[in-house]
Amino acid sequence: MASLPRSVLVVGSGGREHALVRALLRSPSRPRVIAAPGNAGIADDVPCFPIAADQIEGLVSLAQKEKVEFVVVGPEVPLSLGLVDRLSTLGIPAYGPKADGARLEASKIYTKEILQKYRIPTAAAAFFDSADAAIAYVRSRPAPIVIKADGLAAGKGVIVAQTHAEAEAGVRTLLALPGQGRPGKILVEDCLTGEETSLLVVVSGRDYIILPTSQDHKRIGDGDTGPNTGGMGTYSPAEVVTPALLEQIDREIVRPSVDGIAAEGIDFRGTLFIGIMLTPEGPSVLEYNTRFGDPETQVVLPRVSSDVLDLLWSAAIGKLSQHDLQVRPEHALCVVIAAKGYPEAYPKGDVIQLPAPLPPQITVFHAGTARNGAGQVVTAGGRVLGVTAIGSTLPAAAEAAYAICDQVVCSSKYFRRDIGAKQLKRQ
Ligand SMILES: Nc1ncnc2c1ncn2[C@@H]1O[C@H](COP(=O)(O)OP(=O)(O)O)[C@@H](O)[C@H]1O
Ligand SMILES: [Mg+2]
Repeated sequence: MASLPRSVLVVGSGGREHALVRALLRSPSRPRVIAAPGNAGIADDVPCFPIAADQIEGLVSLAQKEKVEFVVVGPEVPLSLGLVDRLSTLGIPAYGPKADGARLEASKIYTKEILQKYRIPTAAAAFFDSADAAIAYVRSRPAPIVIKADGLAAGKGVIVAQTHAEAEAGVRTLLALPGQGRPGKILVEDCLTGEETSLLVVVSGRDYIILPTSQDHKRIGDGDTGPNTGGMGTYSPAEVVTPALLEQIDREIVRPSVDGIAAEGIDFRGTLFIGIMLTPEGPSVLEYNTRFGDPETQVVLPRVSSDVLDLLWSAAIGKLSQHDLQVRPEHALCVVIAAKGYPEAYPKGDVIQLPAPLPPQITVFHAGTARNGAGQVVTAGGRVLGVTAIGSTLPAAAEAAYAICDQVVCSSKYFRRDIGAKQLKRQ
């Protein structure tokens, strides 16, 4: 085992970062952990500094001032703004790709070109920067058809159009989407069908470790209804990914992705999060993200029993092959508690009361939380908490998580009742 850093800065403020902080605090090497900007729950665990995740120079100065030996970057924005590049010039190792690797998330056109170049299964697509050409192409393809904005769009950049009329409107909407540059760029791609899954892969150059499987629930409503969200709940393992399927995904998608990225000259050290559609013709890549998933991390990391600090550090310093990943056999399930109204407008500042003490199999990860003037924990974002339970079976984990969700007191509390239900039905 490589000698581990004694101090770590975690960048970000969501449930994912709270899960990262908790996992790092479990390290037998007992590192000093700090976070920026963090949230109310993270601040209960470690010192937090009020520097937003997109304030690259502020984060760099903080890392220097606090003499941190390692930075773990949670969200995509600082990665694509080059935080890791800046840290690297100062000799501070970081977990997360440099801007060249982060482009795999920040540009869907770039990703599609990589997927095509390395013959990795993905939907056929064409790229446009003008409405007329895109609409002519849309008319030449069968509906449903998918329109995607090229750049980072915080989950608002994809339209699965059921009809040609909807697709044409989608072309105009996404070409005009703010924050995409002018002219905007879009992809028009064939619609795939099947169950979706995603895989978190810790990558370091040509080495990689596939983390335990998990399944997200994207829609706001029970039974996968209503608008898409950042994710309303997860469970791990995801039994839809059988060992044979995982082997196929590894062979057809993970290995060629990691090799292709390396062949492009990118020294990728961080998480490659691969969105996959399990089509009748086989697994097909929907997208790459270049950071841990939220809320996948809230079920995956609690199941990792080897030292997560060693895992991330080994990846960052190019010694990933020395980490021996150990995974607990138990099931984990996370229910996201959101503010009612999310993903549209929602109230902020509502007081949250958690049951205490929490049972040992429960962890409540904070996401959009803050402290008000009276020191009370209040809602401060759309997704507020992630209640993760560990259980010997999935139903046991679900029961334990929901018992806590019911006891959380908050006037704007909303959560899905059916996290894990699909897998339970299958069993
Ligand atoms: N080719 C496709 N066929 C069918 N559904 C798709 C396709 N591409 C994306 N989707 C749907 O849209 C969602 C968002 O697309 P994705 O590429 O993951 O972008 P992002 O997560 O950046 O919004 C996916 O989770 C999936 O449900
Ligand atoms: Mg996605």
